[in-house]
Amino acid sequence: MRLDSPLLLCLAAALSSAFVISPPHMWTKLILTHHWPSTFCSMEHCHPNISFWTLHGLWPDKGINCNSSWHFNSSQIEDLLPDMKKSWPDLLNPLSSGFWKYEWHKHGTCAARAASLNSQHKYFSKALELYHKVDLDSILKKFDITPSEKYYTFPQIEGAIENFYGVKPKIQCIHPSKNADVQVLGQIEICFGPDFTLLDCEKQFTMEAMYEGNGDNFIAFDKASGFSVCDHVTPVYYPPLPQLTHTHRLH
Ligand SMILES: *[C@@H]1O[C@H](CO)[C@@H](O)[C@H](O)[C@H]1NC(C)=O
Ligand SMILES: *[C@@H]1O[C@H](CO)[C@@H](O)[C@H](O)[C@H]1NC(C)=O
Ligand SMILES: *[C@@H]1O[C@H](CO)[C@@H](O)[C@H](O)[C@H]1NC(C)=O
Repeated sequence: MRLDSPLLLCLAAALSSAFVISPPHMWTKLILTHHWPSTFCSMEHCHPNISFWTLHGLWPDKGINCNSSWHFNSSQIEDLLPDMKKSWPDLLNPLSSGFWKYEWHKHGTCAARAASLNSQHKYFSKALELYHKVDLDSILKKFDITPSEKYYTFPQIEGAIENFYGVKPKIQCIHPSKNADVQVLGQIEICFGPDFTLLDCEKQFTMEAMYEGNGDNFIAFDKASGFSVCDHVTPVYYPPLPQLTHTHRLH
């Protein structure tokens, strides 16, 4: 076969266009991560007062801390702040913007390699848009899965999400002890392609980001202190907000 054969030229063209669309360092999946405040706070000793799934982050599947000179600037997302405070709260420090700054530096600067997310406003507003579109709380409610003292089976929860969205989520729990008879629902990931259409999450996917501690205060969020993929057989506890006890009410 000669080097300039149409087939080879064709192949070369296909390859080069593939590289233009998707350079090797470019992410191919976005992971929209929600956490359940009661579970998070049971690990981190905060006082949960929120009874809906909140945003943890929007993570590309490739890269962390991609541009350290691109500083977080909250005045660029001023119009988003009311929604950010509600939907993406810093559960450890509700009045601080530190969590958003951390997520921007670690994940946003990498997501920003795509033209569709190449500003702080684009990144945070897309995360909020996807979060509201997914609307995890009402989907779970629709399937009668609500925070409760009774336990659910894992297939019940996974099945509801999978049936509704038509893609596989990644669902993480904490396992209070090795042979515990219950696991606690903690984190739910829904995945998207570069065009923001839903994609399957890979169950065993390990985010490099999760294991790359850099010694700051937010390690708790990304390491998620003991979250792991829920198993299929252990009953699942979806914890309601802690009730005020009788003694609390008397004071
Ligand atoms: C939860 O508490 C924090 C601070 O204590 C407060 O800023 C926030 O508005 C509360 N959130 C809700 C949903 O009540
Ligand atoms: C990093 O961010 C700065 C500030 O926005 C920008 O000027 C620079 O081009 C970015 N560098 C890369 C490699 O994207
Ligand atoms: C933050 O963004 C605002 C609005 O774009 C700009 O006026 C300001 O100079 C920026 N601040 C910093 C420290 O870059």
